[in-house]
Amino acid sequence: MAEFSLPKNSRVQEGRTFKAPEGAKNIRRFRIYRYDPDGGQNPRLDAYEVDMDKCGPMVLDALLKIKNEMDATLTLRRSCREGVCGSCAMNIDGTNTLACTHDIRDIKGDVEIYPLPHMPVIKDLVPDLTHFFAQYAAIKPWLQTDTPPPDRERLQSKGERAKLDGLYECILCACCTTSCPSWWWNGDRYLGPAILLQAYRWIVDSRDEATGERLDALQDPFKLYRCHTIMNCTRTCPKGLNPAKAIAGIKKLMLEREH
Ligand code: SF4
Ligand code: SF4
Ligand code: FES
Repeated sequence: MAEFSLPKNSRVQEGRTFKAPEGAKNIRRFRIYRYDPDGGQNPRLDAYEVDMDKCGPMVLDALLKIKNEMDATLTLRRSCREGVCGSCAMNIDGTNTLACTHDIRDIKGDVEIYPLPHMPVIKDLVPDLTHFFAQYAAIKPWLQTDTPPPDRERLQSKGERAKLDGLYECILCACCTTSCPSWWWNGDRYLGPAILLQAYRWIVDSRDEATGERLDALQDPFKLYRCHTIMNCTRTCPKGLNPAKAIAGIKKLMLEREH
């Protein structure tokens, strides 16, 4: 018989509470997913009371304050704190987003923070992105040409360059892919919105000469066609991009070349 409850060892339990310092007046509570694969224990939610009068405005500011001043064992990825590296992607207040650009004041009540969903967790807020980047490598994300390289840059018209707008800005944070139900169920074979947006970025690049091969590689019932236009991807993208539109663009090119 099908079992619909989680195995006991994956249930998230209540963890420790770290109190705000004496005299703090402006306190926000952060409930953060903790998991240590070496500890042999269930994941837990630890609570941290942060003095917001001594903390920056973004969720990443609070996470770093917690790590630096309250609990050095908290593990997370971050690098740029400018929304350009994609490292700090996590699930905040129920949405996949970037901790460094998400303002704490936009969240009501306790701030709940989990790692990106539907990925194996290495520790705490750090997901294992190995499969995601293997899927990225599979679309050959570089310029492919047969013609000999010119003496100078490969030029584009303004119109050709404009086709890359809305695509080149993708920082591969994986927020969209990990919000996509089709990828949750078929992520072993379906490439997911981030990687398909990247594939489209190379397909529509006027300087690339492998367009046919790129489309051939996606002509598969799973890699592309598991997208059912549910639109979670576009709703969640912290860079305001539209992966669903890019996927529709690939499907359109597939149809056009058949006729
Ligand atoms: S499309 Fe947006 S959400 Fe998806 S990986 Fe790129 S930047 Fe992140
Ligand atoms: S539109 Fe496609 S890629 Fe985006 S969330 Fe839905 S199924 Fe996934
Ligand atoms: S730290 Fe680089 S995107 Fe947040």
